Amino acid sequence: MKNLKFDYNFSVDAHVKSGISSVDISKYLERVKTGLGRLEEMVSNDQVGFPNLCTSDISSIKDFAKESKGKFNDLIVVGIGGSALGIEMLTNALLPVGNNSKSLADRGFFPRCWIADNIDPSKIFGIVKKCKAEDTLVVIISKSGNTVETAANYSYIHDWLLSSGVEISKHVVVVTDPEKGPLREYVTANNLRSFPIMSSIGGRFSVLSPVGLLPAALLGIDIDKLLLGAKELTSKGYDQLLLASAIYLYFMENGKSINVMMAYSSKLEKFSEWFCQLWGESLGKKLTYDNKEITFGTTPVRATGAIDQHSQIQLFREGTLDKHVSFIGVASHEFDKEVTGNYYPAFNYLKGIKLGDLLNAELKATEGALLTSNVPSIRVDIDQVDEYTLGQLINFYQFIVPIIGLTVNIDPFNQPGVEEAKDYAYGLMNREGYEGKKIELEKIYIKDEKFTI
Ligand code: PA5
Repeated sequence: MKNLKFDYNFSVDAHVKSGISSVDISKYLERVKTGLGRLEEMVSNDQVGFPNLCTSDISSIKDFAKESKGKFNDLIVVGIGGSALGIEMLTNALLPVGNNSKSLADRGFFPRCWIADNIDPSKIFGIVKKCKAEDTLVVIISKSGNTVETAANYSYIHDWLLSSGVEISKHVVVVTDPEKGPLREYVTANNLRSFPIMSSIGGRFSVLSPVGLLPAALLGIDIDKLLLGAKELTSKGYDQLLLASAIYLYFMENGKSINVMMAYSSKLEKFSEWFCQLWGESLGKKLTYDNKEITFGTTPVRATGAIDQHSQIQLFREGTLDKHVSFIGVASHEFDKEVTGNYYPAFNYLKGIKLGDLLNAELKATEGALLTSNVPSIRVDIDQVDEYTLGQLINFYQFIVPIIGLTVNIDPFNQPGVEEAKDYAYGLMNREGYEGKKIELEKIYIKDEKFTI
């Protein structure tokens, strides 16, 4: 199995006008080495745990998956943000399209998968409507054990399970902090099966912990291979990661305020979504570690090739030149097939072309088109979409993001900016202790009829 390739040809000034010079590459490389050094220090102090996940003991997860196989027709994962995007990415990439429409036998006796993340009533209603409580396993995932959306969605599911007369402890498994939080207390009080999220694993860095691995194993995804891919990424050292971090940081600091992730595979659509959270929540920071104002971060945008060639490429090429584009190319696509175009003479030029080859040709064409518009890009190449390559992609970005953050002295592992809206929402829900937040919101939330038509 080959490691992913990072190609930055079209980010260097020899190829693209706004590209990085070799002098700046050396300069930025020196800088990001400090970021990597700080990350390594945090890992050795047990402050940051994601790099160690690829060598962790996952036998209890595999045992539980084995014991559950064939017992459930449906798996409902309840979680949001870092507790849902990882498994969304894994299922999108690694399960067949339309998996939920197959019979249990055709799915290899693994359950269908539903992800209850948003608190949109139509979503949770639709999920529950599709499942029978007696055939369903619910995995609640929340590191804090405190997240309102997860608490509310599980409450809905809990009532449904109870009204169906099933025993909660046989149908609910929890992934949460090993010691603290209301969900941990719920586990203890009800003697539920649970798996820990260690405190050194941040939500958006948790896909290779039980957060992603437990549901993945229950669905028949090869989690050993996923971890192997992640581990092998750094088997030859950190040169590739340092170079990629240097390139990204250069464009962040040199006028590219938008970072587009454009994967040429529908199986990587959710990868781009996962990436956007990782990039946005980790790098969008106002203050440095020593409380100096920095207002750092660029906006991640997700795009899918070839779909977005018919949507956003116009903007990327001819709109404001504020974008750096990351392409992901897949050498060989599953179920690839030649087309004939023989249903009408106008389409005969398609004869003998495989869909996957067309997709890859369009990737090359788009790279070229962006080049002619002076839009810098990089390209990450993988052989195919499988557990190994996905493990590689995951760790590629899980390393790059904190290396960049620590280089500029921001905390890539916190998210203070999300608290205000949470607290206001608690206030609006009349949660005890948040009365002041409700008053505060009412004071600033002043709208005038004259500005509404
Ligand atoms: O990256 C993060 O830390 C967040 O996106 C969290 O994952 C998200 O808020 C959900 O939190 P929790 O797992 O505590 O329910």
